[in-house]
Amino acid sequence: MRFLVTGGAGFIGSAFVRMLAKSTNAEIVNLDKLTYAGNLENLASLPAHVKHRFVHGDICDAKLVESTIEQLRPDVIVHFAAESHVDRSILSPDAFFETNLRGTLTLLEGARKLKVPRFLHVSTDEVYGSIEPPHEADENYPLRASSPYSASKAGSDLLALSYFVTYKLPVTVTRASNNYGPYQFPEKLIPLMISNAIEDKPLPIYGDGMQIRDWLYVDDHCRAIMAAIEKGGPGEIYNIGGSRALPNVDVVRKILAALDKPESLMQTVKDRPGHDRRYALSSEKLMRETGWRAEMPFEEGLKETIAWYRSNGDWVSRVKSGEYLHYYERNYGGRAV
Ligand code: NAD
Ligand code: TYD
Repeated sequence: MRFLVTGGAGFIGSAFVRMLAKSTNAEIVNLDKLTYAGNLENLASLPAHVKHRFVHGDICDAKLVESTIEQLRPDVIVHFAAESHVDRSILSPDAFFETNLRGTLTLLEGARKLKVPRFLHVSTDEVYGSIEPPHEADENYPLRASSPYSASKAGSDLLALSYFVTYKLPVTVTRASNNYGPYQFPEKLIPLMISNAIEDKPLPIYGDGMQIRDWLYVDDHCRAIMAAIEKGGPGEIYNIGGSRALPNVDVVRKILAALDKPESLMQTVKDRPGHDRRYALSSEKLMRETGWRAEMPFEEGLKETIAWYRSNGDWVSRVKSGEYLHYYERNYGGRAV
């Protein structure tokens, strides 16, 4: 099969490309702008024989998108490219509008004009907003986005689904819970806490730290996307939940214990505005229709992730230099309580 992957130099996109390279002989074209979150080092382990071509560019560039599709004639577009971090969307929402909405629209238009037979739009459980216990969101749950990030993802989901209804473009939307694993940019909770703890730096806990996230190992997510491509229906939405719902402080305590670091490194800071209290997903539809299951137990996935960050200090220090320092100061400076 021929795959056009967008955002394949980011955290989840690169795991998907590595998975394709390992388990198929697919031809892969990887379109990525290499923003602060994109990193070709994430693909350095691809064996030489793999049919992978990297295209450096923006999904908002209609000409580039169309010529890339025209050349490859993909069987499927798997669309990961996005601005993906809630805190950054609160500081600077514009790029979220551009990439997540304009970029998705540009890809959908390219796919429609050139009749791409399948379009998998990768989305998030954050589009449902905070879920009151004991409820879980199924795919028909109302969209109640809280942040500019989740609003831009909800908008892009609706655009993608409208292309199925209006133009019969065979679009499938997946909505996954919080991912973790190797190569995640250390702005997100788990890699930020691991890398700060390794350096004996304070671990910033937003508010009371009792917000709940359902953790999904990145490779389980990638298998779920393949299952949705192979066995899911066009025009359908599939939730992809994780293997473990936990309050943030419990996650951070586990990280500190695994690294043999003191809990005194945890530092309460001012809460994130609009902070969603709890995410909870039902993945029953995906499990029933495709047989997919989240396989990685959280403790084991966390252990592997910590081991990866410990033995990839060079990767961490490269991505934590330059732009990262500026972002860190903007997001965390003046947040002490
Ligand atoms: P990431 O931030 O690690 O990577 C995003 C990638 O997209 C980067 O390689 C970046 O260079 C690229 N990109 C950004 N703007 C672009 C543009 N205009 N043109 C081309 N490329 C561009 O993100 P991630 O965590 O790997 O998330 C991937 C997708 O999965 C996103 O759509 C995100 O909304 C979704 N998602 C993420 C999570 C999570 O926990 N990280 C959970 C559910 C869904
Ligand atoms: P994050 O990884 O940003 O994912 P999302 O907000 O998309 O769920 O954050 C996960 C949880 O961790 C969320 O409740 C916010 C919290 N958090 C902190 O307490 N401190 C931090 O420094 C970060 C980045 C997140």
